[in-house]
Amino acid sequence: MKIAIVLGTRPEIIKMVSIIEEINSRGDELLLIHTGQHYDHEMSDQFFEELELPAPNYNIGVGSGSHGKQTGKMMEKIEEVLIKEHPDIVLVQGDTNAVLAGALVASKLYIPVGHVEAGLRSYDITMPEEINRKAADVCSKYYFVPTEKSAINLSIEGIPRKNIFIAGNTVVDACFRNLKIAKKRFEDNEHEKSSKLSELLQLDNILTLTMHRAENVDNKERLMNIISALTELKDLNIVFPIHPRTKKTMEEFGLYDKLANLDHMHLIKPLGYLDFLLLMSKSLIILTDSGGLQEEAITLNIPALTLRYNTERPETVTMGGNILVGANKDLIIETANKILNDTDFYNKMSLAKNPYGDGSSGKQIVDIIEKSYEKGDCILKS
Ligand code: UD1
Ligand code: UDP
Repeated sequence: MKIAIVLGTRPEIIKMVSIIEEINSRGDELLLIHTGQHYDHEMSDQFFEELELPAPNYNIGVGSGSHGKQTGKMMEKIEEVLIKEHPDIVLVQGDTNAVLAGALVASKLYIPVGHVEAGLRSYDITMPEEINRKAADVCSKYYFVPTEKSAINLSIEGIPRKNIFIAGNTVVDACFRNLKIAKKRFEDNEHEKSSKLSELLQLDNILTLTMHRAENVDNKERLMNIISALTELKDLNIVFPIHPRTKKTMEEFGLYDKLANLDHMHLIKPLGYLDFLLLMSKSLIILTDSGGLQEEAITLNIPALTLRYNTERPETVTMGGNILVGANKDLIIETANKILNDTDFYNKMSLAKNPYGDGSSGKQIVDIIEKSYEKGDCILKS
């Protein structure tokens, strides 16, 4: 069978790896379509190289732009490719503009859509990602949801239960497999040991920070609140691989140099997945507004503090591994210090159970797709 995958950003690449590997190992035909939404080497190519992914069959090269422009360009090109290539199914992952574009176009061509990581809801319609994931779920046929909670979200919206498959999250596949590789590579490689990252990994009390959400980094007041908190967390070594969007707005607001000059702040460029997994695994705390990091933190048993007021990953909070601190300066400082100074509190958070499965999500998903195909379910009607 011919399986098309549409992806375009860092997290989609990482979370599609185990599915791509399953497709290739079974001899199915893979059609990989990269939208080009992320185009810097550090945001895209380095993951293809390091994770040994095949080069995309098509790179649409949409680049940056407004939501309408980006999504529109993606739709036009994805449609051309799908009409030419006739895949049996189109897979999209998560909640980016590629997911919206891919799901809309494929469903209108009567190509079944499989949404990986379906059913997540923040119920915050001001987030572009919430619109993308809801719209993609309207267009999908197969819903690969990570947890029972996401299955319930879809059932409430009227999605038939027979189309919903609880398969865990492919981020666990990526984490488990690559952390082992990352540790071995680090131990074996003398060059790595003299690198900047290796110096950082020797530090005590590391807090890994990432942020890139529009509601944090494009809003000066919120960004300043977060930065004020960081400024005061001097007992932690804050390692901040900085997303290009965040670097750009911090420079525009005149905040970048102020932060970079602090002794306990370590601003670095975005890391490859292997180095980033090592960094997370050596961290005491993960402070983030990323979706993927909330999942990876609980998978790696690291307490997470999330710089948001809601999350579409509520399981991480109810399990006890994640606390929503918003952009509230006092709450960020108080909670980070509590993790640093209160061992019982730290232990409780780090022992939270991972709700996202056992690392076999890619296999489960491709099994389901193949079975449906054998039954004659995935058929291009026109
Ligand atoms: C996108 C996704 C978001 C996801 C994130 C993962 C949408 C709506 N947003 O957000 O859900 O969590 O990716 O990281 O799909 N830029 C570069 N180089 C790049 C890419 C971006 O410099 O390779 C800069 C540009 O200035 C661009 C800005 O970052 O305007 C934002 O990029 P964009 O792709 O629009 O959104 P992200 O914030 O990356
Ligand atoms: N990540 C990485 N290098 C970095 C920062 C993040 O490899 O410097 C990985 C991280 O481990 C996770 C994914 O990128 O798997 C998350 O991407 P991002 O936060 O950009 O997107 P989101 O998950 O919020 O959609």
